[in-house]
Amino acid sequence: MAVFQVAIDGPAGSGKSTISKIIAHRLGMTHIDTGAMYRAVTLLAIENKIDLNDEASYRFLESAKISYHKDHIYIDDRLVEADIRGKLVTENVSLVSSFPYVRKKLVEIQKEVAQKGEIIMDGRDIGTVVMPNANLKIFLVADVLERAKRRQQEKIKKGHDVHLDKLVEEIMIRDQKDSTRKESPLRKAEDAIVIDTTALSIEQTVEKIIELIKKAK
Ligand code: C5P
Repeated sequence: MAVFQVAIDGPAGSGKSTISKIIAHRLGMTHIDTGAMYRAVTLLAIENKIDLNDEASYRFLESAKISYHKDHIYIDDRLVEADIRGKLVTENVSLVSSFPYVRKKLVEIQKEVAQKGEIIMDGRDIGTVVMPNANLKIFLVADVLERAKRRQQEKIKKGHDVHLDKLVEEIMIRDQKDSTRKESPLRKAEDAIVIDTTALSIEQTVEKIIELIKKAK
């Protein structure tokens, strides 16, 4: 099967995963949410009670299999979709993903799946590191308040109520950590197209990107 790659990067809560998932379904592409993979490593590290600040303690990754398929994230054969969205994981994922060893392990897996057919992969370093030769690169942005409001709506739907200012703070801290780390920081690839989704609906953003995919083919 011919390889066709779409890279979607952007800050926390910019809609990357939601939008990538819908596009993948509509166009019959494979979607990989790399944020879910970093979250799964964080969950495992917390469960294993390792010292999160010690890069050497992440060697447990030698024997753990983190995989993402059909919109679900697994550690070995265990589905951890719900567990990776908890507060503790969200608070620690930027620290965990800052370690070169952790990134090397996950990027290896991501680069391998990127060679298998038509892929839409979302994250922070997809256009810069994982798929530097992608056919199309998108950098999604949105005002932080709008991103926090979207997160709040998701939480309310799941029956949790969280204050908006708490979410704004959480998103800003994570963006700051992700864009200032040494290893593969959150950064727009030079050849990425920026889409500001602040005033766009999910459907409008999906349509815009599908149009760009059709042009790139
Ligand atoms: O996409 P999501 O917000 O679920 O990502 C969770 C975290 O995983 C990010 O805040 C970032 O620290 C890390 N991440 C990363 N590189 C990626 C995807 C996510 O460092 N490609």
